[in-house]
Amino acid sequence: MRNILVTGGAGFIGSNFVRLVLAQQPDCLIVNVDKLTYAGNLENLEGFLDNPTHVFVKADINDGKIIEQLIDKYKIETIINFAAESHVDRSISEPKVFIETNVTGTLTLLEAARDKKIQKFVQISTDEVYGELGETGKFTEQTPLSPNSPYSASKTSADLLVRAFGHTFGLNYNITRCSNNYGPYQFPEKMIPLMINNALNDKPLPVYGDGLNVRDWIHVEDHCQAIWKVLVEGKPSEIYNIGSSNEKTNLEVVKTILDAVGKPHSLITFVKDRPGHDRRYAIDSSKINSQLGWKAKTNFAQGIKSTIDWYLQNKKWLANVTSGNYQQYYQQMYGNR
Ligand code: NAD
Ligand code: TYD
Repeated sequence: MRNILVTGGAGFIGSNFVRLVLAQQPDCLIVNVDKLTYAGNLENLEGFLDNPTHVFVKADINDGKIIEQLIDKYKIETIINFAAESHVDRSISEPKVFIETNVTGTLTLLEAARDKKIQKFVQISTDEVYGELGETGKFTEQTPLSPNSPYSASKTSADLLVRAFGHTFGLNYNITRCSNNYGPYQFPEKMIPLMINNALNDKPLPVYGDGLNVRDWIHVEDHCQAIWKVLVEGKPSEIYNIGSSNEKTNLEVVKTILDAVGKPHSLITFVKDRPGHDRRYAIDSSKINSQLGWKAKTNFAQGIKSTIDWYLQNKKWLANVTSGNYQQYYQQMYGNR
């Protein structure tokens, strides 16, 4: 039996991870701590909310007392920290909460992990800590940290705290740095689900700048399999880049989505660029590939098709998550478009 504390498990990647582990590892107990911010949703846990090996707890990772109580009560052996404010645009308009959750929240978890002698702490980080690339090259684990947005700066700070807890207190940790994820249950503020949602509703698709920024897309299930591999086989204090070698310009992705749902390219609307917009990300995953034997399985053409199908089949989920404050957010970001 492995007893795992997962934080942020009601968000996009966390919920996909919990679903995968519960399906593949019947001897695991997952305690899922999530504050349920706008990005966290109990509907993401459909099908396993009442599973006997899954315990959901609504709490903030900054609440060290609750975290320690849960570690004791459920004899937690490992912590995987997905909980974060995760959207770059929001970090530009309201950076403070990114520090509170991504930095102070991670520190709170690290203190609990140290004090309760947790066997392993896995920090779910991002390739955005490396900054941006020019037209060539890829991020390796040796690429200097050079975050450009308040979001990536907060994630970098968290990574450095994790490293320091390893060095100073002997905490056993791994850090994973993955590229852009897509797949089911992603909140439609991120590019792919936002564009799918707009295309389905015949709304303009807001492309920032010239649309030629490049992201290296990975299907969320591949990311989750890699995290499991790192949890079980990752060597102490190691950092693993995770990617799928799927570089696409934003325009290419948007056109693929429009073609898949049978909507005209005339819906594409170029809007003001994001301040400080990183031009290109690309991940070198050769370390996790050679050392842990992990490789992404989903190619982009299949993955985007199944993802679009999922959103088509889950219009109620889309409608629910885009009710309430979403309209206000959308209006602030994109005006009446
Ligand atoms: P998400 O925004 O969909 O989910 C984040 C979850 O964390 C939500 O359920 C939210 O309620 C919860 N949360 C936020 N603040 C909290 C707090 N103070 N206490 C407890 N729970 C809190 O994000 P995601 O896309 O699933 O990303 C998960 C992790 O993966 C993040 O750490 C992110 O930095 C990292 N990551 C994401 C991507 C990507 O493409 N989405 C890529 C690489 C790394
Ligand atoms: P996003 O999904 O926000 O991820 P990240 O900024 O972490 O890479 O954005 C992916 C790319 O899509 C990024 O280059 C910004 C761009 N983008 C748009 O062009 N329009 C949009 O409405 C959004 C949300 C993103």
